[in-house]
Amino acid sequence: MDSSLNTLCVDIGGTGVKLIVVDGKGLQLCDRQRAKTPQPGTPEAIISVIEELSGLVPEFDRIAVGFPGVVHEGIIGTAANLDINWPGTDLADELFQRLNKPVRVANDADVQGYGCVRGKGVEMVLTLGTGMGSALFVDGRLVPNLELAHHLFKKGKTYEDYVGRPALETVGTQKWIKRVKRVIETTKRVWNWDLMHLGGGNTKLLRDVQFPEQIQLHSNTAGVLGGYFLWQTD
Ligand code: BGC
Repeated sequence: MDSSLNTLCVDIGGTGVKLIVVDGKGLQLCDRQRAKTPQPGTPEAIISVIEELSGLVPEFDRIAVGFPGVVHEGIIGTAANLDINWPGTDLADELFQRLNKPVRVANDADVQGYGCVRGKGVEMVLTLGTGMGSALFVDGRLVPNLELAHHLFKKGKTYEDYVGRPALETVGTQKWIKRVKRVIETTKRVWNWDLMHLGGGNTKLLRDVQFPEQIQLHSNTAGVLGGYFLWQTD
C-alpha cells in the first residue's frame, strides 16, 4: 500500500452527506464537511453535493464511500432511505467520471466497522441514524452487506421501524433507548458476538447509558474515517 496517498472519505446518509480527507496513515487532514442530503436524494443530486464539498477540502488521490444500502463492486443494490433511482447505479464509476480519482464504495455500516473493529472474535456493528445499519466481522474479516434493518423485529415492525430516526421522533429518547437495548439483546442471542460497536448520529443519545464493556460507543466521525480502511485491502 502506498502510504503517501490521501483519501477522501465520504459518508452518504439519509439526512446528511459528510466528508473528510485523511492522509496515508489515516490521520484527519481537515474538519468534517457536511451538507444536508438533497430531497429527493437522487444519484445526480447527491453526486453533485459530493463534488461541491470535495472542493472545500485538501487534495486527495482516491475516494472511499459509505453508502446506506447494499453495494456490490461499486454498484448500488438497495437504498431504502434515498431516492428510488439508486438501485443499479454504478456509483464508483459515476464518481470517478466526476472527480477523476479511483473510487471504492461499500455499505455504510461495513465502513463504520472497518474503522472500529479490533480484529478478534465475532464483532457486530449497529449504526443508529436515519436507518439502522448492521455489520458483522469475524476475526476482522467482514461478512458484507448484512441487512438486519428490514427484517421483522416485533409486532409487525422491522428493526429499522423500531429504532430508526422516525421511531425516535415518534416515541422520544427514553423509550427509544429501551428499544435499542432490546435490539442489542436480540442480536446477542442470535450472533453471540464478543463485541458490539454502536455508531451513527443517534448514538450520542446513549452517552449516559451504563453499558457493559462488550458494548462500545463510537462517534459519527469515526464512521466517515472508516473509509480509509477500504483502501487498505487489495
Ligand atoms: C439500509 C442499510 C444501511 C442502513 C443505515 C438501511 O435502511 O438498508 O444498508 O446500512 O439503513 O444507513
